[in-house]
Amino acid sequence: MVDEPLARRAEIGVGDTGLPRRAVPDAFDVGADAYDRMVDVNPGYHAHLRMSVRRMGIPDRGRGMRLLDAGCGTGASTAALLAAASEAEIVAVDASEGMLRQAQAKTWPSSVRFVHGRIEDLADLGVDGPFDGVFAAYLVRNLPDPDAQLKRFLTLLRPGATLAVHEYSVRDSRPAVWTWNAVCWGIIIPSGWWHTRDTTLYRHLWRSVLAFDGAARFRRRLADAGFVAVHSETVPGWQRNIVHTFLANAPHD
Ligand SMILES: C[S@@+](CC[C@H](N)C(=O)[O-])C[C@H]1O[C@@H](n2cnc3c(N)ncnc32)[C@H](O)[C@@H]1O
Repeated sequence: MVDEPLARRAEIGVGDTGLPRRAVPDAFDVGADAYDRMVDVNPGYHAHLRMSVRRMGIPDRGRGMRLLDAGCGTGASTAALLAAASEAEIVAVDASEGMLRQAQAKTWPSSVRFVHGRIEDLADLGVDGPFDGVFAAYLVRNLPDPDAQLKRFLTLLRPGATLAVHEYSVRDSRPAVWTWNAVCWGIIIPSGWWHTRDTTLYRHLWRSVLAFDGAARFRRRLADAGFVAVHSETVPGWQRNIVHTFLANAPHD
């Protein structure tokens, strides 16, 4: 049997900055079955997602609110949103069929809706704003044009509403770069090979994080896109200065 995503992926390679960004969702198709097993052994993965959502300051368990989970994958970030906003309507979007299938196989309340497609094409997918919050966990680094997407997020948000970008960013800290290299080559890439017999997605992860903005640069990017009250916080533990929550609000006027 021909493995479609593998066959397609064989034509592309992991360059110095990772995979060509339009190819990333196909690479996630290949890693989809193993994704939950891999992140479940990453200490802090789920707790850090929940921490980032708490930092959004969603009031009253999200009653009457609409939230967007951009790049929801297998639903780990959706579950983090749900934990803080059980009363909100949550729209969760992902371009990888395989990742979305894993998400949809889980049990969700009727307030959660999954949509298959690229975040860039949201309007064509029948998903319109306004949203009272957008959560993008490990998505922005994987986009072909992050600046354009940040501007789109801004137009989707109600005035004063928050975008939280939960993302790896190591450039501003030399110890973080060393730790990142060690963890990728000591754990993530070998473990990815063990689970999927392929290292493409995990080498992309390694390279794309090294190539991504430092935290200060990314905060500037958010401000340049038109967001206000831009700030970021890292997480505790070994991922300190590696995983960050970037918070930014849509202006009131
Ligand atoms: C590292 S996973 C993160 C999944 C989830 N947010 C989490 O925290 O576990 C990144 C996800 O972004 C999705 N993705 C990448 N580019 C995308 C795009 N342009 N539009 C929608 N989803 C995209 C991938 O398919 C993948 O499922």
